[in-house]
Amino acid sequence: MAHDHAHAHSHHGDGDLAEMLDLDAEVLHDYYREVIGWAGSLVPDRPRIVDLGAGTGTGTLALARQLPNAELTAVDMDEDMLERLRHRAAEAGLAERIRTVRADLDGDWPGLGPADLVWASASMHHLADPARTLTQVYATLRPGGAFMITELDGFPRFLTDPAGAALEERCHAELARFRQEAGLHMGEDWGARLKAAGFALEGERRFDIELRPPLPPNAVRYAQVTLQRTRQRLADRLTGDELTALDAAVAGAPDRNDLTIRATRDVWIGRRP
Ligand SMILES: C[S@@+](CC[C@H](N)C(=O)[O-])C[C@H]1O[C@@H](n2cnc3c(N)ncnc32)[C@H](O)[C@@H]1O
Repeated sequence: MAHDHAHAHSHHGDGDLAEMLDLDAEVLHDYYREVIGWAGSLVPDRPRIVDLGAGTGTGTLALARQLPNAELTAVDMDEDMLERLRHRAAEAGLAERIRTVRADLDGDWPGLGPADLVWASASMHHLADPARTLTQVYATLRPGGAFMITELDGFPRFLTDPAGAALEERCHAELARFRQEAGLHMGEDWGARLKAAGFALEGERRFDIELRPPLPPNAVRYAQVTLQRTRQRLADRLTGDELTALDAAVAGAPDRNDLTIRATRDVWIGRRP
């Protein structure tokens, strides 16, 4: 059962991440619909698609639904994520068109191409060497193939009351520092990097997403999971008072009627000439 699986997964250290990724796609569905439609417009009729850092497969599954003739390869280094992805694909009747490949994309790549579309959603910032990765993507695409990168500037913001907004601001500053220290490539100019790697830059767009209250239950849960993950990450970096306030925000999320979601997503499309 899907629920049992999700529950079992939550014992794993990154269980919250898996739930957060699933909820992200559900809650930001208008954005996803638009961006997946855009991806679908880039490819021929029987496309071969590679999803880099596929996670729980939100992109893989959405692309498979959008493009009924597509064959997809989902790549991730995390076997738990891939297992969840396979489970979801089977549930959706899409397993036959989706294969999973476990690989560390910072190492040597397995044979993934030739692909018509390489899709990387919130995964490029994890990879150690952007220039090397772009060279590998280029080699994975057939001539004329497209690379679609989507990135985020951080977690969404949920709290609008003055004290909550100030707390969230402080958390975001610490999270940004945390990510920088961890060597994550957030805030990269992927357009410039694509061009430097020999791609033609075909599209570039920022999505400013806002969901106003009252939020549906899955969006409230998304806020709660995200704030909880923030709390875990910043346990050593916030003051006792700040942690207490954050705990209260996590615990109190289901009872609030003022939660908002504000998020930004950036999308770039590079075309291999
Ligand atoms: C933030 S998640 C994004 C997941 C998915 N693309 C989405 O949009 O929901 C990043 C994913 O990249 C994977 N990842 C990070 N570094 C990786 C690496 N070196 N090789 C392969 N996968 C990696 C993680 O395991 C994780 O599943």
